[in-house]
Amino acid sequence: MIIVKTIDELQKARKRLSGSIGFVPTMGALHQGHLSLIQKARSENEHLIVSIFVNPTQFLEGEDLDAYPRKDEADIKICEVAKVDILFMPTVDTMYEDDELCIGAPARRGYLLEGEKRAGHFDGMLQVVMKLLNLSGANRAYFGKKDAQQLALISQMVKNYFMDITIVPCEIVRDEFGLALSSRNVYLKDNDEKERALALSRSLKYATKMVMAGELDVHKIKSEMTNILSVVDKVEYVAFVTREFKALKKVEIGNTIILVAVWVGKPRLIDNIWI
Ligand code: PAJ
Repeated sequence: MIIVKTIDELQKARKRLSGSIGFVPTMGALHQGHLSLIQKARSENEHLIVSIFVNPTQFLEGEDLDAYPRKDEADIKICEVAKVDILFMPTVDTMYEDDELCIGAPARRGYLLEGEKRAGHFDGMLQVVMKLLNLSGANRAYFGKKDAQQLALISQMVKNYFMDITIVPCEIVRDEFGLALSSRNVYLKDNDEKERALALSRSLKYATKMVMAGELDVHKIKSEMTNILSVVDKVEYVAFVTREFKALKKVEIGNTIILVAVWVGKPRLIDNIWI
């Protein structure tokens, strides 16, 4: 594995590769969720590039940019063991200059749910993902369904800008109790918070059970989910949308994503299920 920090080093290293390239962009503090993307990319491509970059433009004022977990040493080991060819770890100055050209999230899909609660987040996320995809020169890039709206917007960007890369959606990885893995789970401070955080996956599981039993009415399912979620500190949203992020009144089997965002103690947690 070679570790590169500058654009020049990355481009030189990439030019030495021949054959298909898979790419996994991350913000580090790698866990089993990231690793599942890395392993999938490893198995589907001849070469594998991973990036670790805590992107400041996607953090809002007052969010956890400075506190965001950083574990470079452990991350490097994980990537080595996972047979990554190139690990790209740029600095902020390498990635950005002053007074940049920006791309913006789409007016509707980019400003509901996460886009409404974290206005501006998706602009910054798309900006860095555009840069990273271009730099990687990859054939395929891997993203988790855990961040369903992020995945939908990246797919839309690739489509709208006619970018020559395939976006590969990857399944959500959970711990043994059902909690979706996230770098922010380390903020859950004790067993009580960890236990209450399980309400997210429990509510989604219950919703799936209701749908399987024939209940398609969003209002009824939402109200049961809200009951289960009453143990968290704050529910930001429970939403039913199509794969294109259009609101739904009735569940469409094969075309529905149920999304939940809540606060438990310090962290804001998101989870979803595709039905
Ligand atoms: P980060 O939160 O580090 O996540 C990197 C990738 O791992 C994303 O595609 C995310 O959806 C995926 N991922 C995280 N937890 C997962 C889980 N439990 N199961 C499956 N996949 C999971 O998402 C970002 O970084 C950034 O926004 C980024 C795309 C790198 C742009 O800065």
